[in-house]
Amino acid sequence: VSRFRPEVEALEAYTLREGAVPVKVNQNESPWDWPEELKARAAQRVREIAFNRYPPFDESDLTAALARRWKLTPDCVLVGNGSNEVLQALFAAAAGPGRTVLLPRPSFGLYRQMVWLSGASVAEMALEGAVAYSPATWREAVRRLRPELVVICSPNNPTGAAYATGELEMLLEEAPGLVAVDEAYAEFARETAVPLLNRYDNLVVLRTFSKAWGGAALRLGYALASPGAARQLRKALLPYNVSPVTAALGLLALEEAPLFEGRVRQLVEAREALAAGLAALPGVTVYPSQANFLLLRISGRAGTAVYGALKARGVLVRDVSRGWGLEGCLRLTVGSPQENRAARTALAEVLR
Ligand SMILES: Cc1ncc(COP(=O)(O)O)c(C=O)c1O
Repeated sequence: VSRFRPEVEALEAYTLREGAVPVKVNQNESPWDWPEELKARAAQRVREIAFNRYPPFDESDLTAALARRWKLTPDCVLVGNGSNEVLQALFAAAAGPGRTVLLPRPSFGLYRQMVWLSGASVAEMALEGAVAYSPATWREAVRRLRPELVVICSPNNPTGAAYATGELEMLLEEAPGLVAVDEAYAEFARETAVPLLNRYDNLVVLRTFSKAWGGAALRLGYALASPGAARQLRKALLPYNVSPVTAALGLLALEEAPLFEGRVRQLVEAREALAAGLAALPGVTVYPSQANFLLLRISGRAGTAVYGALKARGVLVRDVSRGWGLEGCLRLTVGSPQENRAARTALAEVLR
């Protein structure tokens, strides 16, 4: 008797273990915590929660606030313990044995892992030059493979490229099943797929509080979908999956949207300046990014060696150089002005 499913035993666990490093630009977090005054209000909101009671079944205040923000009805919204949990529900509901899921490559590693665990077949579409979407190729693959589920990460982690909304419409028309667009970084991008929800009932958009909202520790994400699709996806979530503590903090963040939107504008400006600064270093190619991170390719140097040399100088980036097509590549988050300066200075020293 095998104690675990072969899919589980074959899997390498998704982990990240890094010591404390002064400049932490490896996880695409916000460089800024919430202001002290906002944290005091958060604590007050938490105090008002009756800890002895089960919360409302569907976190109705948060769901309603998200619906208002996106001009949708609350039955289009489902919340999760990070967008990771919403992804897990998506794969539980729409992947599974005998079904095919089309994923971008390279992209967020968790997709492949979760699809594999569901027992579905993984089909991967290589990005053009390993970094950008080529919509004509995607439409052709969807026509040929007829996947039950297509996942688009836009902007794509770790490459930063977005899938143009106009092109997405054509893909939605072609796709026989669901098309999920993971917009974890879309606050930093020019476009979002959300307006298409009114016209396509096979579209699911995933969002998170972990990046633009400075709330990675909150563990809060959500999906927007047609009421019919949301009803099916909800079946794959556990009851009370989002704690009322988390929900209260998410609601507070939405009330303070201008603060976080201002920070996003600052990071988008800093991204362009940082990209130019890094591209001026010898052997460095910086790919266009619509996210809060940059993908660099360093010619003639092993990515892992550069990563190690940066870490020794107190700058922790993400070594993505073992990813498909990403030889010599590193990913770094756009941080505070000090962090960006430190990252550029350290890389200049390493490449000297
Ligand atoms: C593309 C993408 N989707 C989803 C997530 C997961 O985010 P969350 O913190 O909301 O679970 C990440 C986190 O890095 C990500 O890069």
